Amino acid sequence: MKVQVCIIGGGPSGLLLSQLLHLRGIENIVLEKHTREYVLGRIRAGVLEHGFAKLMREAECGERMDREGEIHHGFFIAHDGILDRVDLHKYSGGNSVVVYGQTELTRDLYDARDRAGGMVVHNAEDVALHDLTTDRPFVTYTRDGETHRVDCEYVIGADGFHGVSRKSIPADKIREHEKIYPFGWLGILSRTKPVSPELVYAKHDRGFALCSLRSQVLSRYYLQVPLTDTLDQWADDEFWAELKRRLPSSVAGQLITGPSIEKSIAPLRSFVAEPMRYGRLFLAGDAAHIVPPTGARGLNSAASDIYHLYHAMLDHYRNGSDAGLDAYSDRALARIWKAQRFSWWMTTLLHRFPEQISYDQKLQETELNYLFSSETALRLLAENYVGLPF
Ligand code: APR
Ligand code: PHB
Repeated sequence: MKVQVCIIGGGPSGLLLSQLLHLRGIENIVLEKHTREYVLGRIRAGVLEHGFAKLMREAECGERMDREGEIHHGFFIAHDGILDRVDLHKYSGGNSVVVYGQTELTRDLYDARDRAGGMVVHNAEDVALHDLTTDRPFVTYTRDGETHRVDCEYVIGADGFHGVSRKSIPADKIREHEKIYPFGWLGILSRTKPVSPELVYAKHDRGFALCSLRSQVLSRYYLQVPLTDTLDQWADDEFWAELKRRLPSSVAGQLITGPSIEKSIAPLRSFVAEPMRYGRLFLAGDAAHIVPPTGARGLNSAASDIYHLYHAMLDHYRNGSDAGLDAYSDRALARIWKAQRFSWWMTTLLHRFPEQISYDQKLQETELNYLFSSETALRLLAENYVGLPF
């Protein structure tokens, strides 16, 4: 088989790029190692920057997001018994975010690829990238015991943190920067009315908590837990009781509890691989960078990679210019590192670190008191949360 672009990974990054390229007549194929059901079974992020929402509309995949997603003009930070609101709309110059689950967004992207007759290969195993430093790269994979070859002009590594693409770059051609946090997030999904119309990030001596949502009948809650914790230590009742302890009584008193329909513990890490290009291979999304979820930048960081890759490919195939492709890694990384900074800042501000000394605690309190007493600080937070320019 021969295509112009071969995309490894059928998550949000790979599918969004595939759809955008297709709409501009650039032939591509997506190779996904798992089944569609498996991919759609992942419970992931739920806050979209306005730039991501715009890109979904440009990809002709924004209709259900606009119909079912919720526009949020702000969120709350609970700290030291106080509930303070961050007015995103006021302090970002009129912008906001869309609260819409990544599962639904990925479903919309798959549906769009189906409608367009897009080539998405599931159960593509043993994907291997070849001749990346030549002008004729190719990709091989096996499916149902048969080996297949895809000849292409470009390979996009959108296969996530554990994918094959980044690992296909020789060790002396890539630099990795990583920071591991000494705690994890225990998350649950419950078919209950959300405790608050807007998200509540809670800093508490017992640990961080987050109240989020997927819709008015589907709530998403998180608790900071030690890395040594396991799911069998957290029965639903324990989860709800601990969540209430970490919320202000005005919020805890409104909490509607119910059985969890999904429960998982995820570690927190910050990670960036540089550069995001090796010959004809371009990395995008989680394949190149990971953020702790505190700042809701994971999916949104992937969006800016896709935006730059999409325009670089248009420049190449329509105008014969490789300027965009040559500038991609630097352009993408410039914004990625700002998202890394913001995610690290939110995480450091709101979590309880093991062996935290009193000086650190006073800095957290001071940072929060400064934030809510300074319009400049609120503008800085708001412009990052709604999304910096691509
Ligand atoms: N071959 C083919 N596909 C692969 C391989 C491989 N060797 N390894 C991984 N994949 C697939 C995974 O099964 C997954 O569906 O690549 C896809 C990568 O998707 P994501 O991990 O979701 O990464 P990305 O599309 O960049 O989306 C980033 O999703 O994971 C969240 O927190 C992340 O919100 C962020 C967003
Ligand atoms: C979520 O809804 O899953 C979510 C929302 C905001 C975050 C992290 C996760 O910062």
